[in-house]
Amino acid sequence: MKAIVCSRYGSPDALRVAEMPRPIPGDNEIRIRIRAAVVTPADCAFRKADPFFIRLMYGLVRPRYAVLGVEFAGEVDAVGKEVATFAPGDPVIGISPRTFGTYAEYKCLPEESLVAPKPGNLTFEEAAGLCDGALTALVFLRDKAKLQRGQHVLINGASGSVGAYAVQLAKHFGAEVTGVCSAANAAFVTSLGADRVIDYTRDDFTRNGRTYDVIFDAVGKRTFPQCKHSLAPAGIYLSTVPTPGIMLHMLRTAKSRGRRAIFAATGLKQRVENLHFLRKLAEAGIIKPVIDRRYPLEQIAEAHRYVESGRKKGNVVLVPSGE
Ligand SMILES: NC(=O)c1ccc[n+]([C@@H]2O[C@H](COP(=O)([O-])OP(=O)(O)OC[C@H]3O[C@@H](n4cnc5c(N)ncnc54)[C@H](OP(=O)(O)O)[C@@H]3O)[C@@H](O)[C@H]2O)c1
Repeated sequence: MKAIVCSRYGSPDALRVAEMPRPIPGDNEIRIRIRAAVVTPADCAFRKADPFFIRLMYGLVRPRYAVLGVEFAGEVDAVGKEVATFAPGDPVIGISPRTFGTYAEYKCLPEESLVAPKPGNLTFEEAAGLCDGALTALVFLRDKAKLQRGQHVLINGASGSVGAYAVQLAKHFGAEVTGVCSAANAAFVTSLGADRVIDYTRDDFTRNGRTYDVIFDAVGKRTFPQCKHSLAPAGIYLSTVPTPGIMLHMLRTAKSRGRRAIFAATGLKQRVENLHFLRKLAEAGIIKPVIDRRYPLEQIAEAHRYVESGRKKGNVVLVPSGE
């Protein structure tokens, strides 16, 4: 099979297409024929080992993982003899946050992994997109902020993958939503359901005198000290990006009854129920994936360069040749 191999940390050119043996599922494993994977800012971070702690986790000199990629949509094409819940031909979605490996034509995973049926109304590309930003936004808004009906939430970076799903989920949870994006993306963010849009190139939401119950910095561009005065007295600031600052503020405010700062590594906090939850919302038309660009496997370097530009709108997906 074809796969994208990352044998050294570096620029997008460190990624190359290689021929690898098609994996054979173990007794309790399913093999998925990947029809679409997602290219994310986290993949770029792993590729270049930035931040440095990635080297401590995945190999000091060169990456221990051979193939990048976490999110996928595809079809089960073989199952081990102990597998009871999946059968060849099942369309599925999922994530592989511990072993990566979805930038490939096939991937084996244990039956009990984070894999669920694909929403019937979505294409494989759209369904893969759901596994990136929507899973992240769900954990932040529902589990960390415990967002309630009628609360006011501001989403910074509302046109990105996490942000675009956060807008839709926050509306589903009954919140009043303000999206922060550039003027070019204002109509897009409004179409996702935002009640108000702030153009970050003209207005600074931390200085307009408004306050919010939750500020979700989906792109990690603002800090807790900058946002603190725009939070209601028991308001919560959420950030997706693990900076030393957010870690410090999270520790300092953990027990506070006042304003709090929270970061979470959501990939490691996922449950398969979350995939089922999102599948139902997608099938009900409540959540709509946004696919910005699609690239064939062979153009992985271009895909990484585009994602790294920080300008993508929703998701970028990688599709095996011939799809
Ligand atoms: N903690 C976790 O578990 C977790 C999980 C998933 C992702 N993440 C992280 O979350 C971050 C966001 O990921 P993503 O895929 O959503 O990002 P993304 O799609 O790459 O974000 C790009 C979007 O951000 C907008 N943007 C850029 N600068 C901005 C600014 N200063 N203010 C407001 N919007 C701005 C851009 O709009 P314009 O072009 O109009 O500027 C663009 O639409 C990444 O750092 C990723 O690694 C963390």
